[in-house]
Amino acid sequence: MKSFNITLLGGDGTGPDVVAEGVKVLNAVGQKYGVDFVYEEELIGGAAYEQYKTPLPDVTVSAAKSSDAVFLGAVGDWKYDTLPPEVRPERALLGIRKALNLFANLRPAKVFEELVSSSPLKPELVSGVDIMIIRELTGDVYFGQPKGVEVRDGIRTGFNNMIYTEDEVRRIAHVAFKTAMKRSKKLCSVDKANVLDVSRLWREIVIEVSKEYPEVELSHMYVDNAAMQLIRAPKQFDTIVTGNIFGDILSDEASMLPGSLGLLPSASLSDSALGMYEPIHGSAPDLKGKNTVNPIATILSAAMMLKYSFGMDQAACDVESAVKSVLKSGYRTPDIYVDGMQKVGTTQMGDLIAKEVIA
Ligand code: IPM
Ligand code: MG
Repeated sequence: MKSFNITLLGGDGTGPDVVAEGVKVLNAVGQKYGVDFVYEEELIGGAAYEQYKTPLPDVTVSAAKSSDAVFLGAVGDWKYDTLPPEVRPERALLGIRKALNLFANLRPAKVFEELVSSSPLKPELVSGVDIMIIRELTGDVYFGQPKGVEVRDGIRTGFNNMIYTEDEVRRIAHVAFKTAMKRSKKLCSVDKANVLDVSRLWREIVIEVSKEYPEVELSHMYVDNAAMQLIRAPKQFDTIVTGNIFGDILSDEASMLPGSLGLLPSASLSDSALGMYEPIHGSAPDLKGKNTVNPIATILSAAMMLKYSFGMDQAACDVESAVKSVLKSGYRTPDIYVDGMQKVGTTQMGDLIAKEVIA
């Protein structure tokens, strides 16, 4: 029997709740395809800090490194807001991305026809939207040195460094062009080259790499304009590639096209098959244990794991179809609820989708 090792990092708040639903769906896939998923649970974020006084203990990193895929919920809780920056839960997320060299973050924003009415935007605007945002994940102002807060001439001064090397841009550009080749061969690179030197290099390298992919139609857009265009006419986009911070912001914005942050999955990939899969949403600690959060983003992240780390493309399609069919039957978690539908909780949504996978 084929078997895959998965490190489960539930994290904080509702993270463990949604990961549990993802596991249900993976187990249904395992049953259907005769594959054995072996899980090892480790701590990350505030949960790890409680036990180890660090949000990213070595045991967690080594478990992740020796597994076939990492399945993560979310990190962070307001109760850790006063901790020093080096031990805050968010630091663990950046740390594990770096430790596993997960430089390519794929964030699809696809509007399910069944949910067009859940979007705050006009149906004709969002119907048919299918965008893949590719966010560089291990560079930029997130990791650039020097950084800090210090007193300069008696004035408190905070600074970070937005920095990219040509190699970092080149490798994410290759991922982007390869992804675009498998989609509709349209790639938009988002930068701020009218102001930032680092963006001018970004653009130069993306253009260089484009020579190797003559079939892909490449365009460039400034990030402020892209933020506006994503709402004005989202269907103009297919694949978007951008740096770490622009991608962070634009992907949250893009989640409002399908209508809820609870719907968007992500895959963080390296050069190897090892990837990390997590919903793009946060830990929503106020909702912990209330059985109300939407597990679909996490379940769709499991589908990405099947596809990108395990090569189980058909199983990934099954999970997506199961999500669609459950939505079609009218089941909704509170975040996507509209009148006339049937309201369900986190665990029921997971059960319904898992059952549909096997059906
Ligand atoms: C995300 C999150 C993280 C980020 C935070 C929690 C560190 O917003 O994955 O988009 O900024 O990358
Ligand atoms: Mg974010």
